Amino acid sequence: MLRMPTAGTPYLFSDILAAATGLLFPQKSLRNFRNRLQDYLNVENIALVNSGTTAFYILLKYIVNLRKNKKQTQIILTNYTAPSLFLPIQKAGLECIVADISLQDFNIDADKIEPLINERTLAIMPVHMFGIPTNIDKIIALGQKYNLFIIEDAASSLGSKMEGYPSGTRAEFGFYSLNRGKNISTLAGGILTWKDPRHSKGISLYLNQIPKLNRLLELKLFIKFLALVLAVRPFFYTLLYPMIAKHKYSSLHDTFHSFAFTGFQAGLGAKLWNRAATLTQARIENGKQLINLFENIDGIQIPRSEFTVAYNQFPILIDDLAKRSELEIELLKAGIETSHLYEKTLHQIYWKFIKNSQQSFPQSQYLADHLLLLPPHPQIRNRHIKIISQCLNKIFT
Ligand SMILES: Cc1ncc(COP(=O)(O)O)c(C=O)c1O
Repeated sequence: MLRMPTAGTPYLFSDILAAATGLLFPQKSLRNFRNRLQDYLNVENIALVNSGTTAFYILLKYIVNLRKNKKQTQIILTNYTAPSLFLPIQKAGLECIVADISLQDFNIDADKIEPLINERTLAIMPVHMFGIPTNIDKIIALGQKYNLFIIEDAASSLGSKMEGYPSGTRAEFGFYSLNRGKNISTLAGGILTWKDPRHSKGISLYLNQIPKLNRLLELKLFIKFLALVLAVRPFFYTLLYPMIAKHKYSSLHDTFHSFAFTGFQAGLGAKLWNRAATLTQARIENGKQLINLFENIDGIQIPRSEFTVAYNQFPILIDDLAKRSELEIELLKAGIETSHLYEKTLHQIYWKFIKNSQQSFPQSQYLADHLLLLPPHPQIRNRHIKIISQCLNKIFT
């Protein structure tokens, strides 16, 4: 029985050739990829770095430099998100304040933000979790009212749209991840964007401090990419599973490294963007099919969104934890991997550091405890949706 991984961009042989060309002609490939992204996101100001974490860190360093008052050290963000976001916040000398989520769209509850704003607040960061755009109009309005920076974390929502805008492009600053589990992946990578060209000079100061990988390290990264090409294919994923499992992220990082985006990643990225629309559409359609399956099941909650969602992972909340385990096991027996993602909220993981960790966050707590993620990636076909439906019927009838 073949095992379907939870995430992964399917690569073609021609993608490998494009990546190799990027290795040989880095400058041209980087220019080309940046142009593709500018068109796709409809944003003029774009930079590429080694990860979403680095992209976020640079934006943080930049806004710290712009702040009017040194007391402003607090970043407000959702209590259920990638724990790694804490690291750049800490490294930039800032603090986290968390807000509970809404069980409507599993993102930050905008109504919970205003009571957290005070003279120490520097920025609000709406995170578009699972690929689902946060409705950020309210958040942008709060930013204007209290003169705060807004940084959109669209790390996992590349391809999603809100009212025609690509997610990540409504606020002044935004960033995306091209890491291996993301909607479109160049093995690793981060894109940062800003609207006002007046920020370009200041942001470049930080970008210019980032070291370039030497050729040997870039070659090593390229070889890792070749391994990823195999690892995302169900046949090799199943065959090599014991080895691949060792390379899955299983523990929290306590540090991150920053370096420049490489030529081979740019060559690969530019090539992948030829089929970005198709890859994105597959996620959108699979998401719709999964909504149809799960929307009327007693004891299961799914997110509701008015936007176009290119799901990175499809999240469901199962009330009865015994049934969650049964469904997981049933799906795995049928070759479909699922995940719990992060089993804890930020306020539980970083309780020592998060200023308001004494408060209660019932909705994000519930989500962390009851979450099951299903794969909506482009390798999921109708036959997989049928299998998911059969497993679901076995447990929930
Ligand atoms: C919501 C969110 N933000 C930021 C990041 C960090 O991106 P990267 O892994 O490219 O550093 C991730 C990665 O998992 C993420 O899911």
